[in-house]
Amino acid sequence: MKTVKVEASTTYDILIENGLIAACGAYISTIRKNCKIMIISDSTVFALYGETVKNSLTDNGFEVSEFIITPGEASKCADNLIKIWNALANAHFTRSDMIVALGGGVVGDLSGFAASTYLRSIKYIQIPTTLLAMVDSSVGGKTAIDLESGKNLAGTFYQPSMVLCDPETLKTLPREIYSDGMAEVIKYGMINQPQLLDILEADYDISAVIEICVKAKRDIVNEDERDTGVRQLLNFGHTLAHGIELDSDYTIPHGRAVAVGMVLITKAAIRAEKCDKNALDILTRLLIKNALPFSTDITPEALCKAALHDKKRAGGTITLVIPTKAGECILEKTPIENLYDFVSGAWDND
Ligand code: GLY
Repeated sequence: MKTVKVEASTTYDILIENGLIAACGAYISTIRKNCKIMIISDSTVFALYGETVKNSLTDNGFEVSEFIITPGEASKCADNLIKIWNALANAHFTRSDMIVALGGGVVGDLSGFAASTYLRSIKYIQIPTTLLAMVDSSVGGKTAIDLESGKNLAGTFYQPSMVLCDPETLKTLPREIYSDGMAEVIKYGMINQPQLLDILEADYDISAVIEICVKAKRDIVNEDERDTGVRQLLNFGHTLAHGIELDSDYTIPHGRAVAVGMVLITKAAIRAEKCDKNALDILTRLLIKNALPFSTDITPEALCKAALHDKKRAGGTITLVIPTKAGECILEKTPIENLYDFVSGAWDND
């Protein structure tokens, strides 16, 4: 068993082991015993793992109910949040009861938001079943729903009480969704884990890779839980990715958009003589190896327009995550009037 301890506003363990899902009840009972648990999941994941999780929870003395959403980003909405609050209230959940989020980022973010707000907060456990959720969204306590004007625009910082990560669940993940998660894995290599880039170029064990990513995120969250400083490094490629997602009406998945966003910002940084050229070669090789895209038809104008609506904008500046070499990024506050000149440099390299 791999164990990674997060020490942010609360302390909790991330456990990583094949087959962990079938033993989840025993681990969750170390947090609290004999209470009610609502499993929040989507219909695809619940069909695959719901019974296993339910059985393990009931075998360990929990009273279990479930709330199942439709798979997909559209479910991360205020309507579902209110439905979950009502389901918890109708089932007489008290502050001693808990939520288990079983699924990917949509389920995790929505469940975390419900847990942080119902009765002014109840405990929740993350059981991520996608690679993206394992290495990123289940760790660090960002919870959210989407609003009509954009993704993740309402939410809280609220840490889970435990994260149970079973890499065997990745075996049922469609290839494209797995690749999507690999974009976030490559991101960790690019921002501050150069040894991970070497590992990813060779053959590797995915559990070991998940552990490296989770430890990298843990270190960042421990230092900057509220996302005012170093945590923004995790947004490498994301400012432009949001533009790509928005322009495609969210038909381009997040990981694919992040892949292209990382390439564009790296090209722009090279053009501005801020980054070593080798970084782009390594990044592109890894994206190709993982069947991820590295170019887009969108114009720099459209991308910059969308970027200016990004949460990372503060008044007249936007914080960009700029690579300096493979395995190192810096944060740079950029006046919004300079954004287009910088970003359009990515097109000059072609
Ligand atoms: N997904 C980025 C973060 O947790 O800060």
